[in-house]
Amino acid sequence: MADAVHTGEGHQRRIFSGIQPSGGLTLGNYLGALKRFVELQEDGAAETIYCVVDLHAITVWQDPAALTRATREMTAGFIAAGIDPARSILFNQSQVAAHAELGWIFSCVARIGWLNRMTQFKDKAGKNREAASVGLYAYPTLMAADILVYHATHVPVGEDQKQHLELTRDIAIKFNNDTGTEFFPVVEPVIEGAATRVMSLRDGTKKMSKSDPSDMSRINLTDDADTIAQKIRKARTDPDPLPEALAGLDRRPEARNLVNIYAALAGSTPEAVVAEFAGQNFAAFKPRLADLAVSVLAPISTEMGRLVQEPGEIDRILARGAERAAALANPILDRTKDILGMIRAPKP
Ligand code: TYM
Repeated sequence: MADAVHTGEGHQRRIFSGIQPSGGLTLGNYLGALKRFVELQEDGAAETIYCVVDLHAITVWQDPAALTRATREMTAGFIAAGIDPARSILFNQSQVAAHAELGWIFSCVARIGWLNRMTQFKDKAGKNREAASVGLYAYPTLMAADILVYHATHVPVGEDQKQHLELTRDIAIKFNNDTGTEFFPVVEPVIEGAATRVMSLRDGTKKMSKSDPSDMSRINLTDDADTIAQKIRKARTDPDPLPEALAGLDRRPEARNLVNIYAALAGSTPEAVVAEFAGQNFAAFKPRLADLAVSVLAPISTEMGRLVQEPGEIDRILARGAERAAALANPILDRTKDILGMIRAPKP
């Protein structure tokens, strides 16, 4: 993580990140994001704020009952993976109105040309762009607000969010320039670890995603041990053995992906994994990977299953987190309004 970052008005390090409750958690979410969230909380060097971003989820239609379920399940996943709601602030986005308010302000800062370049919108909207929601298009301005409404300085994400974080930086810089302030920090993406881009188990050129129609393409945090083992056994690979050095995987995306997953799960590096398994074929490597994946994921999935049995408790945790989040966000939103010349009722 970069030490010397421009953090606006002398802010402390503050970490913010979010995951959409649209479907369950995948191994990609876990290795690219959630596992890192826990490490940063444990590191203790900064305040950690983690958000289940339900306002983002509704940029595509969500069945209301399914959204409620997915929000609770996602929260359970955060806690089961090691997020401690006492040490980190954990909440769902729609309970803190400041996100949406600052999101509007930022939609007046961001330029249409900037949003037109967003590759995720192009991917998600597909061919029928005219029928996509306005929210899906404006999504990155809300994401910038999620981060900047806390004056967060560091944002742990997977590789696919990099472009959105660059836009967040552009919005902060333009707001500061337009208003002659240094109000918003220019955030630092934290894209680290062996698995910043976990690929589909069926196609090594496609990202592992909760929206892939094939369930065999991904590992879900709710999969049982047999399902995990079966998905890894059936994962696409090539007939060659593992090479002596990492460069030998350059044109073997599926093989490279499994090595990265192994390294991230083991807390190791792809170089070390290749060194350990050099010369072995995938028939030998896959059962080892399956055992490792089950040993890491099964306790999380069991704990998730237990936690979702107590929805009332999850809702209380989210409400408490939202209260703490709002206490940080509201004064920053108030100051934003002051800078823009908006009148507010004087505090009694
Ligand atoms: P989302 O919900 O698609 O994914 C959540 C996090 O998981 C990471 N991720 C992956 N990492 C590695 N390999 C993969 N295959 C993979 N798939 C997903 C994502 O990079 C992300 O870190 N726009 C965000 C949510 C968001 C947000 C924010 C994030 C809203 N506001 C503010 C950070 C800060 C998204 O859709 O992530």
